[in-house]
Amino acid sequence: MTNLLILGGTTEANALAKTLAERGIPATYSYAGRVDNPRPQPLPVRVGGFGGVEGLASYLRDHTITHVVDATHPFAAQMSTNAVAACREAEVPLAALTRPAWREQDGDRWQHVADIDAAVAALDGPKRRVFLAVGRLHLEDFAVQPQHHYLLRLVDEPDALPLPNCDVIVSRGPFTEAGDRALMENHGIELVVSKNSGGSGARAKLDAARALGVPVLMIDRPSLPQRTELSNVAQVLDWLAHSGVNLGV
Ligand SMILES: NC(=O)c1ccc[n+]([C@@H]2O[C@H](COP(=O)([O-])OP(=O)(O)OC[C@H]3O[C@@H](n4cnc5c(N)ncnc54)[C@H](OP(=O)(O)O)[C@@H]3O)[C@@H](O)[C@H]2O)c1
Repeated sequence: MTNLLILGGTTEANALAKTLAERGIPATYSYAGRVDNPRPQPLPVRVGGFGGVEGLASYLRDHTITHVVDATHPFAAQMSTNAVAACREAEVPLAALTRPAWREQDGDRWQHVADIDAAVAALDGPKRRVFLAVGRLHLEDFAVQPQHHYLLRLVDEPDALPLPNCDVIVSRGPFTEAGDRALMENHGIELVVSKNSGGSGARAKLDAARALGVPVLMIDRPSLPQRTELSNVAQVLDWLAHSGVNLGV
């Protein structure tokens, strides 16, 4: 009997959950538990880490999971690496549902950096007004560059912030170019720091930066172990059908 596990927390995972629920394909949606009120899903939801590779492998066996779709964010490298190892150990087929990285276009002023540490190092220098669009988890890393004025956009109201000069906007998105252009103009933004997340929901800030001629410090994606990569829900359904899953109507 088919029993999927979706590693979620992304727009792509939500789209897959909707399709699987509509087709009556049994599946569970897994959240890490990073945000206060995760979006409701039309499937059973579990929340929290599995306990590393061993924990996930045990979960797969204990819940007789037949397929895993890793639809986590491209920067969720630990989870994706664990998924490859655990699925190998538990002999469960794994596919990743990924989104293409953003590519530089005419008019963009991107400086590529390899990771968060390199982004922090690149911020060395005089005070600037920086739109730091990297999420909540890595804000502490930027505390060693306290001279800047930071604009943060976060999913939840933060408890305490490690940055002395900052404005916080609480919003989940998706965002629009016009909205982000107005935001950046109102805050006098001189630099955007962004992960190369890909997808449509968060790219408005890059379009706005291009329109305003604002430079972007672009954090490139982490490298991940080799796995089957699919880029949309239809491809996931094909992958399931090829492994004998009845896709219903
Ligand atoms: N990183 C980003 O920029 C970003 C942006 C948007 C959304 N997200 C979402 O936020 C979640 C956490 O991202 P992250 O970058 O913190 O991940 P990460 O660093 O790769 O994962 C750290 C640990 O969190 C747990 N975890 C991560 N994703 C999980 C999931 N979907 N279900 C259950 N446990 C999960 C795992 O704990 P155990 O080892 O205990 O199993 C994992 O080892 C992911 O679901 C991701 O899709 C991340």
